[in-house]
Amino acid sequence: MGKGFAWIAGLVVLCGASQGSAATLAAGDMRPATSLDGQWHYSVDPYRDGQAGFHGEEPGKGSRRYADLDVEAAMKADPTALYEYDMDQSPTATLPSSWLTHAPEMRHYQGLVWYERKFDARPKAGMRQFLRFGAVNYAATVWLNGKKVGAHEGGFTPFAIEVTGGLRAGENRIVVAADSQSSATTLPPSVTDWENYGGITRSVTLIEVPATYIDDAWVRLTADGRRIAFDARLDGPAAANQSVTLRIPALHLTLAGKTGPDGRWSGTIAAPTKLQRWSPDTPKLYDIAITAGGDTLADKVGFRTIAVNGTRILLNGKPIYLRGMSVHEEEIGTNPTRNITPESAHQLLSVLKDGLHGNFVRLAHYPHSEVMTREADRIGLLVWSEIPIYWRVAFDNPDVLAKARTMLAEEIARDRNRASIIIWSVANETPVGDARNHFLFTLADDAHRLDPSRLVSAALLNGRTTVDGHPEMVIDDPLIGHVDVLAINTYNGWYTNDKLADVPSITWRVPADKPLLFSELGADAKAGFHDPATMRKESEEYQAEYFRQTLKMADKIPTLVGMSPWVLKDFRSPRRAHPVFEQGWNRKGLISETGEHKQAFAVLADYYAGKAAEAPSQK
Ligand code: GCU
Repeated sequence: MGKGFAWIAGLVVLCGASQGSAATLAAGDMRPATSLDGQWHYSVDPYRDGQAGFHGEEPGKGSRRYADLDVEAAMKADPTALYEYDMDQSPTATLPSSWLTHAPEMRHYQGLVWYERKFDARPKAGMRQFLRFGAVNYAATVWLNGKKVGAHEGGFTPFAIEVTGGLRAGENRIVVAADSQSSATTLPPSVTDWENYGGITRSVTLIEVPATYIDDAWVRLTADGRRIAFDARLDGPAAANQSVTLRIPALHLTLAGKTGPDGRWSGTIAAPTKLQRWSPDTPKLYDIAITAGGDTLADKVGFRTIAVNGTRILLNGKPIYLRGMSVHEEEIGTNPTRNITPESAHQLLSVLKDGLHGNFVRLAHYPHSEVMTREADRIGLLVWSEIPIYWRVAFDNPDVLAKARTMLAEEIARDRNRASIIIWSVANETPVGDARNHFLFTLADDAHRLDPSRLVSAALLNGRTTVDGHPEMVIDDPLIGHVDVLAINTYNGWYTNDKLADVPSITWRVPADKPLLFSELGADAKAGFHDPATMRKESEEYQAEYFRQTLKMADKIPTLVGMSPWVLKDFRSPRRAHPVFEQGWNRKGLISETGEHKQAFAVLADYYAGKAAEAPSQK
C-alpha cells in the first residue's frame, strides 16, 4: 500500500507500506500491553509555536516539539543552533490526567499542550504494533520517532494508531499534541455546564498483535434470549477464510466458523439453560476467549436482554424501574483531574448502588472511561451512555454531523460488549429545528442500525402550558418518533418560580405509547449551608424539600419508569460563579465534591429503597 491519507472513522492514519486502516481493537483494554502511563514531559504552547511559524509557515527547527531530537546535545554540538523548546528537560506530569491539576497556573488553561516520553520496545518480526489511547480531550496528533503517525478528534472515545514498522528495537520517542480548544464546530461546542478537562485523560498502551488479528468482536444474547450471537471481524493478510472460535469455559460452550472473503463471521448457538442472566441484582460476567489464526482476544461479558414493551422497559423479560443518578466523569475530591481509576470508579458508583439503592446510572454528557463502564458491568448498574450533542451544536454543518456519527460509532464499537449499557442517547437539551431534527434523526437511526440490541433515547426539553389553573408540561419534540424511550430534563421549582408546595400538582401530557424517564431533575445546595426558617434556594433544606415534592409529582405519571436526577456529586463548572454558594462548582450533587451527604441524599435513598422493595426480583 502506498503512502497516503485515509480519513476513516474520525481518524486520519498515515498508511505506510506495512500499515492498515483505522483499527477498532475491540477490548483493547483487556489485551496484554506495554503501559505508557506514568511520567511524561509536557510543554504548554498557547501560541501554537510548535504548529506554525509567525507567518503561518511550517515551524522552524527551533520550535518542532515533535522532532526526534536530543535538543541539549544538539545545542552543545552547534553553539550557533537556537532551540526554544526542549521536551526532555521540560516539566513532567503523571499520566493519564488532565493538565488542569498539573500546576496551579494551568487551572484554567485551554489550548495546546505537548506531551513527550521515551520508551523501550522490542517489536517482534511478523507482528503488528498499535498505540492505543483511551481518550485525549479534545483532539490529538501523534508523532513516533519524529514521524506523524496519526490524529484523532473527539475527547471521549479510544483510538488506535498502527505503528508497525515505525517502532525501533530499543528506545523510542512519542510526542502527542493534545488540544482542548473547543469551538462552534466541536462536540461539545464551547458552551457547556462542565469543566473541559484537557489532556491525555485515559491510559496509553502499546499493543502487539499477530499479522492477522481479531479487530472487532461482539457477543450477546439474541433479543428472544434463546441464543448467544457472535460477530467477529479479522484484520490482516489471512483474515479471509480463517477459522474463528468463541469459547465460554464456564458454560462449556464453543461456537466456531470460518470467515468469508471480508474477514467476517457471524454465528449463533443455543444459550445453555444454566446461563445466568446479567442484572443489577446478579451482575454475572463470563470469561470469554475468541481465537482466530494466532490471535486470542479475552473479555468479560454479561448476558441479558433489554426491550421496550408498550410503556415498560423489560430487563430479561421483566418490567424494571430505573433507580438512577446522573454522573459526570470526575473523581471525588477537592481537585479532580478526570483520572478515572478502578478505585475512583468504584467509589463513585458504590455511593449510587449501595448508598442510594440505585440500579441505574446516566453517564453524562459524553462516553465515560471504559474503566467506568466495566465497573458498572462488575457491580451491577444499568447504564445510559451518551455522546456530547449538547445545547447549541452546529446542526447545519455536515462536517459536524460526520464527526457526531463517527463519535457515536466509536462509542458503540468500544462498549457494545458491556451488558450494563442499555441506552444510547444521542442528545441533551437541543433546541428543536429542522437542521437539529435531521441531525438527531440521523444519529438515532445510526444507533439503531449499529446496535439493534439496545434502546435509543435523548434528553429532551418539554413545553409548559396551563390547564384548569395549574401548570401542565407538554412533550411534543419531533424526535419522539425516532427514540425507544422518552427522556425529559425537568427543573420545576428550581429554574422556575413554582412554589415547591405546588410542584406535585403539575401534570404531564406525554405520549402514551412509550416509556418515560426523568433524565434530569435537581436543585443546588451548598453542603453545610442550612436555612430551615426561610427554606431559601442553595440551602440543604430547600434541596431536600425540592426532592420530596418532585418525587410526589413523579409518582403521578403512569408512564414514568425511572429517573437519573441531576446529579450524584457536585462537579466543576466554570459557569457557576456565585462566590459563596458555587465558586466554580455546580452544586446539584446529593453529595459534595468530597463525598459529604446532603439532606436530600436520604430523601432519595428512602424513595429508591421503597421502589426496590416493590420491584420484582431479577434473581
Ligand atoms: C441541564 C444540563 C446539565 C446542567 C444542568 C444544570 O439540564 O443538561 O448539563 O448541568 O441542567 O443546570 O445544573
